[in-house]
Amino acid sequence: MKRSKLVFIGIVMVLILTQACTQNKPNATNDLDRKVDSVLSLMTLEEKIGQMTLFTSDMDQTGAFIRKEYEEDIKSGRAGAIFNAYGVAYTRKLQEMAVNNTRLGIPLIFGYDVIHGHRTIFPVPLAEAASWDLTAIEEAARIAAIEASAEGLHWTFAPMCDISRDPRWGRIVEGAGEDVYLASEIARARVRGFQGEGIGSLNSVVACVKHYAAYGAPQAGRDYHSVDMSERTLRETFLPPYKAALDEGALTVMTSFNDLNGIPATASKYLMTEILRDEWGFEGFVVTDYTSIMELMFHGVAGDTLEASRLSIEAGVDMDMQAGFYQKALPQLVRNGKVSEELINTAVRRILKVKFMLGLFEDPFRFCSEEREKTLVMSADNLEAARDMARKSAVLLKNENNLLPLSKDLKTIAVIGPMADAQRDMIGSWSAAGDWTKSITLLTGIREAVSQSRIIHAMGCTTDGTDMKGFKEAVDAARQADVVVLALGENYWMSGEAASRADIGLPGVQQELADEILKTGKPIVVVLFTGRPLTINKLQQHAQSILLGWFPGTMGGSALADILFGDFNPSGRLPVTFPAHVGQVPNHYDMRNTGRPFDANNKYTSKYLDVPNEPLYEFGFGLGYTTFEWSELSVNQTSMSEQDSVKVSIQVTNSGLMTGTETVQLYIHDPVASVARPVKQLKKFMQLTLEPGQTGVAEFYINSLDLSFFRADMSFGTEKGNYMIMVGPSSNTIRSAKIELI
Ligand code: NOJ
Repeated sequence: MKRSKLVFIGIVMVLILTQACTQNKPNATNDLDRKVDSVLSLMTLEEKIGQMTLFTSDMDQTGAFIRKEYEEDIKSGRAGAIFNAYGVAYTRKLQEMAVNNTRLGIPLIFGYDVIHGHRTIFPVPLAEAASWDLTAIEEAARIAAIEASAEGLHWTFAPMCDISRDPRWGRIVEGAGEDVYLASEIARARVRGFQGEGIGSLNSVVACVKHYAAYGAPQAGRDYHSVDMSERTLRETFLPPYKAALDEGALTVMTSFNDLNGIPATASKYLMTEILRDEWGFEGFVVTDYTSIMELMFHGVAGDTLEASRLSIEAGVDMDMQAGFYQKALPQLVRNGKVSEELINTAVRRILKVKFMLGLFEDPFRFCSEEREKTLVMSADNLEAARDMARKSAVLLKNENNLLPLSKDLKTIAVIGPMADAQRDMIGSWSAAGDWTKSITLLTGIREAVSQSRIIHAMGCTTDGTDMKGFKEAVDAARQADVVVLALGENYWMSGEAASRADIGLPGVQQELADEILKTGKPIVVVLFTGRPLTINKLQQHAQSILLGWFPGTMGGSALADILFGDFNPSGRLPVTFPAHVGQVPNHYDMRNTGRPFDANNKYTSKYLDVPNEPLYEFGFGLGYTTFEWSELSVNQTSMSEQDSVKVSIQVTNSGLMTGTETVQLYIHDPVASVARPVKQLKKFMQLTLEPGQTGVAEFYINSLDLSFFRADMSFGTEKGNYMIMVGPSSNTIRSAKIELI
């Protein structure tokens, strides 16, 4: 190691230790700030800007281009953070480059898209949301964090908190669906899981709330497209999940690719400073999405590198992902007096603070343990948790005559369709370091579950091709079987980033394959693999049973077999509406009533000539293998003041023969207000697991915050008057009561 570098490390350490020891009982934040400032005071302008620069390694590629010189950048201090690099050996190698070659030896922070698991892959996020099980979702993120941190990672680009009501948008798969309350609770659960006992613990990774803001509402569902949205919709529906994740302690935020009402998010002072910092008090750092600073030129708000960089830093963006624009432009902008060095210092402080919190200044290699990597990654417990999450995420959409669960004594089962043995597809998109060759397909899961049955497998067709030559073999297989399990859906790459579809029906000739199999008259269970709602009206009409498996992760096939053969009673509920036709989009449950609500007998009401208004499956919907009976709704008082709360309770009895989980959903509606309110809005939910004959009670407390909304003048609060409370097993609720706010 160079002598000069040793001297500087020495200085840093002395400063750190002196400050820690001279405080009697140091205030943690001030202590941290002093440490940060002690390092900052030693840094040159170029070194500071290096800390504000994030580059990808070439280990994985998650964007349009890779900068080949990233190793040189690390060695010269021109990059303070690296993403798409994982594994103890590799992160150690890159960390050594930074620590041993740069003047101050400031450690790198390693980020990665650990979205639904790191090596053990859990169901895709939209699927996990269908579990409505916050504990399980937190646990899934916890395991992802444990595996990622054991492989040298410090930072995940998750949770994705973008509400989406447009299934054409491929990235709907990465979020928690359409509902603001459910998505906010899930965002919190994910942050708790990722950040665990707190940053600094060896098992935790820093969460990054993305894509801020409103990325999930691109025009016409086309990825990266503009977002045009009222302030009301932004604040009521799209901002709350980001805010919830930050309230839970997420330390970083990623800007979104889109423009919002003409201003690209990365250049938006309104989003990055006024709302994020001034209103919400966020103190962590903001990173752009991939090359977003460069893209300000394509948006047409910046003419060159200098202008794009100035707009971004002035908006409040601390770290440049992959554009390399800060590196090129900021030194000149500061020296020419166009950007104040204080803005740079503020950004660098925020970044160094996170590095200190991670403990990297004490030991840059503390996340590089071969032992942890060997023992913690893809452990049997992790795989079991992934299997359990996949079971909880599946949604039973139809089950005519209780065809499911299937008997384990069936002699012959035909497992047909392009998704039956689709190993790569099981783990979905954004599958991090997941090894798809280890994933269990439906076919394998079924073979393991009923090893004594004869299983005939035929693919029939590919997912998106037009060749029907395989139909004959598939039909022959069906004819020989007692039951057909028909595995249909999308390939993994059909949802995710840059994967929008204008037609959200079954791709290729899969419907034609289904039609042929249906003609055999055999009982058919469709298992659907998808990352988005699909329009599957024909299947709904003709198949006896439909089980939505999503992209269920490494253990998906085993989990779905558990459901098919009755070892698990499905309990998933849709976190997003399945439209009956793509022309209905956006179709979400919390619409406003309009001045001409639907009336079949009146032409001049809000409807289509050619398709119904109703979705195919509504938000919150899902079936199971047992039945539940619901009591009337009871409220302990019919009026309340602002300071009061009302207790709402309902009894649910398992009236069937199998233990099952019911999700009790509570919605409210304000029928007369200063602004038209949604016909219902989810405000609470809870899950009851009941044995046959058992009765459970769901109790909720409604307070004035639950009744608050952005009023006509955009102030947030309540309005006096009546509110409807509705409780039931889906957004087609079954019981309601009225309360008055006095
Ligand atoms: C682009 C994606 O939009 C974002 O979600 C991801 O975190 C980055 N690339 C880094 O891979």
